[in-house]
Amino acid sequence: MSVAYFGRRYTFSAAHRLHTEALTAEENQATYGKCNNPHGHGHNYKVEVLCGGQVDAETGMVINMAKLDEIVKRVVMERFDHMNLNRDEIFEKEVPTTENLSIAVYDLLEPKLQRENVRLEKIRIEETENNFFEYAGMK
Ligand code: NI
Repeated sequence: MSVAYFGRRYTFSAAHRLHTEALTAEENQATYGKCNNPHGHGHNYKVEVLCGGQVDAETGMVINMAKLDEIVKRVVMERFDHMNLNRDEIFEKEVPTTENLSIAVYDLLEPKLQRENVRLEKIRIEETENNFFEYAGMK
């Protein structure tokens, strides 16, 4: 089996506030610091999608880049770009940390890529210059 990997980077901007109903106001403040600010704040999230799969004998590719772009645009960008993550139903019961955002992006994309005979190997999201998060599916 000739398995190869193809990765592509996308950027979207979104707002969030780190806050959980499970904690008191003081505990939220102590846990999340300025990220608990009631008015929220924004990030330019850089999302890396790593696909793995058999190199197609005819095309020589793991997945057609235009096809991946179409899927990511429809499933991820249109959902999250210029949105308030706290208002998305995924984050009604979960804090929109970038750990949870990585899992959400993975879970949205994985079934669509499986349909293209591609394995979603990993999602990596850079939240700031110094912070990044990765999720590679259930272990
Ligand atoms: Ni933040």
